Amino acid sequence: MSTADIYRVFAERETRGVSPAYERLSRAVAGDAELLALLDTLPPAKRQPNLLFGVVRLRGGPVDDPAAFRAYVIAHWPDVAAQMRVRATQTNEAGRCAVLLPVLAALPQPLALLEVGASAGLCLYPDRYAYRYGDRRVGDGEPVLDCDLTGTEPPVRRPEVVWRAGLDVNPLDVTDPADVAWLEALIWPEHRHRRERLRAAADPPLLVRGDLVDDLPALAAQAPAGATLVVFHSSVLYQVPPPRREAFTALVRTLPGHWIANEDPSVLPHADLPEPPAQGFHNVLALDGRPVAWTTGHGQSLTWLT
Ligand SMILES: C[S@@+](CC[C@H](N)C(=O)[O-])C[C@H]1O[C@@H](n2cnc3c(N)ncnc32)[C@H](O)[C@@H]1O
Repeated sequence: MSTADIYRVFAERETRGVSPAYERLSRAVAGDAELLALLDTLPPAKRQPNLLFGVVRLRGGPVDDPAAFRAYVIAHWPDVAAQMRVRATQTNEAGRCAVLLPVLAALPQPLALLEVGASAGLCLYPDRYAYRYGDRRVGDGEPVLDCDLTGTEPPVRRPEVVWRAGLDVNPLDVTDPADVAWLEALIWPEHRHRRERLRAAADPPLLVRGDLVDDLPALAAQAPAGATLVVFHSSVLYQVPPPRREAFTALVRTLPGHWIANEDPSVLPHADLPEPPAQGFHNVLALDGRPVAWTTGHGQSLTWLT
């Protein structure tokens, strides 16, 4: 895809109805030859809308008005480009626990959770968040994760987690102001509820710096006996080159326990998938390689496959 197409598709599939500010910016960039030429000086993996918008927000630049955004990017391009080269999108979305929960709660308890591509580890606490599936509440306290569930019943209780660990090439620390600033910059402008959830996170889990293929067996071996090991990942494999994705999926199938993937089906394909329930971007939630549901990007909805 050309860079213009990437921004156009991002506007159509990911931001429409989810972030008006980013939809406006993506459409403006897609039609702006000067900005596209600047972006094309970067390696392909570094031209992503989320990365550009996140870097501009991190630097305090404007994202509400496309004209002001354009002027800012052009005026500060050397610094913006330098940041885009060294950073990666590491959006960490606790809301994704709401789509993992129906699968996690149905596994033999207690669980030992191992998340690959964990970022700051916010998805390693599915047992601590509260959930609202329509009028059904699961768990008490804050934050409450809202999710529209179709085609399956909400779980009656949260899972019991006796061990949790994350693996990431660049783990982020929710107690480090610089890491929190980057995580905040990656949250889309209108999503105040997501920013509040991030600010409330104060309890970093065990996070190991490492690769999801090379370092997974050693971390998995630390899980306690007597708990069901669950290796899971969400919105990670698009950052992993195809041969390494295949190495990972081959490896994870050899581990004991279960494997949950919540990934873009263009990145982790499944045979005979039905049409998604609506337009726009969807991940596929899969248990042990078998697709079970369509989910939306930040965990706002889940549609069970029949
Ligand atoms: C978009 S974030 C998703 C974070 C989290 N899974 C979530 O759903 O909120 C993707 C994460 O995958 C990590 N990652 C990318 N390639 C990796 C690899 N080869 N091994 C381990 N982690 C990797 C990145 O550093 C980043 O933190």
